[in-house]
Amino acid sequence: MPKLWNGRFEKDTSEMMDVFNASIAFEQRLFPYDILGSIAHVRMLSKQAIISSDDAELIETELKTIYKGIEAGDIDFKLSLEDIHMNIESILIDHIGEAGKRLHTGRSRNDQIALDMKLYAKDALIGVQKHLLSLIAALNTLAFDHVETIMPGCTHLQNAQPITFGHHLLAYVEKFKRDVIKLTDAYHHLDAMPLGSSALASTSYPIDRNAVKETLGFESLTYNSLDGVSDRDYLVEIASIYSLIAIHLSNLSEEIIIWNSSAYHFITLDDAYSTGSSIMPQKKNPDVAELCRGKSGRIIGALQSLLVTLKGLPLAYNKDLQEDKEMFFGSTDQLDLMIPMMEKLVSTMTVNQDAMLEATLKGFTEATEIADYLVKKGLAFRECHHIVGSIVKDCEKARLPLTALSLEDYKGYSDQFEADIFEVLDLKNIINSKAHVGGPAFETVKAQIKANELWLSDNQEIVSSLYSPLNAIQQMLSAY
Ligand code: ARG
Repeated sequence: MPKLWNGRFEKDTSEMMDVFNASIAFEQRLFPYDILGSIAHVRMLSKQAIISSDDAELIETELKTIYKGIEAGDIDFKLSLEDIHMNIESILIDHIGEAGKRLHTGRSRNDQIALDMKLYAKDALIGVQKHLLSLIAALNTLAFDHVETIMPGCTHLQNAQPITFGHHLLAYVEKFKRDVIKLTDAYHHLDAMPLGSSALASTSYPIDRNAVKETLGFESLTYNSLDGVSDRDYLVEIASIYSLIAIHLSNLSEEIIIWNSSAYHFITLDDAYSTGSSIMPQKKNPDVAELCRGKSGRIIGALQSLLVTLKGLPLAYNKDLQEDKEMFFGSTDQLDLMIPMMEKLVSTMTVNQDAMLEATLKGFTEATEIADYLVKKGLAFRECHHIVGSIVKDCEKARLPLTALSLEDYKGYSDQFEADIFEVLDLKNIINSKAHVGGPAFETVKAQIKANELWLSDNQEIVSSLYSPLNAIQQMLSAY
């Protein structure tokens, strides 16, 4: 297969070179974006009378046919044609001859790939956002079922203070909400159309960049042709948000693994989302959570790889940039699997409320409250801390919870203790005394769940209002 650029070459590239150089194997997923970009470009070339409207129509119609052919699996990409751009262009020329050769007027593969990646990134991040929104909805619903399910809140993985499972889950809701918003911001940050930068120095044809921008639904244009072809900052930004998402999924996974352990038994994972052991018949393993925790490694790694790849590049296009694809595609693919799996895992698990309550009682989680009680009776906090510390020490030796002591026992530590200490020791009272915005009180958590529902419907609307290039091309094709 002769190369589209073989004019100045005297011999063919070696097969080894072709294999090393080609990106088509992983780049073929860009075909919808490449074709959409070409349609926008060819319409503009015709509007500007750079090519004839007959040629433009022929090209556009054939591009749509090629799209359908690729979609149907009827088209074999050729490694010797290197990338998605040259594969599509050469099929076009094969099919329609001379007219096809006019498509590449006033553009370069450099601005083409810059465009394709931006279009792809838009759909990729919208896809991840949609998964996150439905994970958030699942966590919020589960939180609603567990507004009153008491569990020990931890620091250093040591039982600290009583909270509820609902409150705990809402912490993850907040993290994932931030991730969705960051992705919306990242969408707007990348929303500048690079076509017209051409190879690096723009073009002398009387192109109309704004017309292309309009067809492709971009907010603005890139304002420097060198930057237009070399900018991959948006991939770093998204990859960094992806890394945070992966970290949040990994944190939640780690907790699920702990809660599901035989020592804790706080939750029981659904059989449909667990695995067994080939040797130990009693085992039921949390593989989904472990894989989410594990896969976060490669997503964080992709961010690092992207940064290092970009670090030493001079302006403008360099082939190193081709390396961005597998890193970015891979991370998107992993998140597209991990987030829905996490949603399944949390929405099918059984919560063992008794085990959570027992752990809260055994964990002396009321201790801070007892100290605060004594402070309210007029003692200094440091002194109270010390008194309660010795109560805990004695209870620990006697293997008793703090609720097992009588008023007499308490008075033995301080004469400030009165009968009302038992109200203070009530876990529900402790939790409900913390009713500030963001606190674990039942009513506060219920209000937050309601607020999250509103947030969800607002953000579902925001995300679905983001222009999806894939939808755009599919609409174009359904009309054709
Ligand atoms: N496949 C290439 C990439 O991913 C696009 C081709 C760039 N142009 C070139 N002159 N080799 O960056």
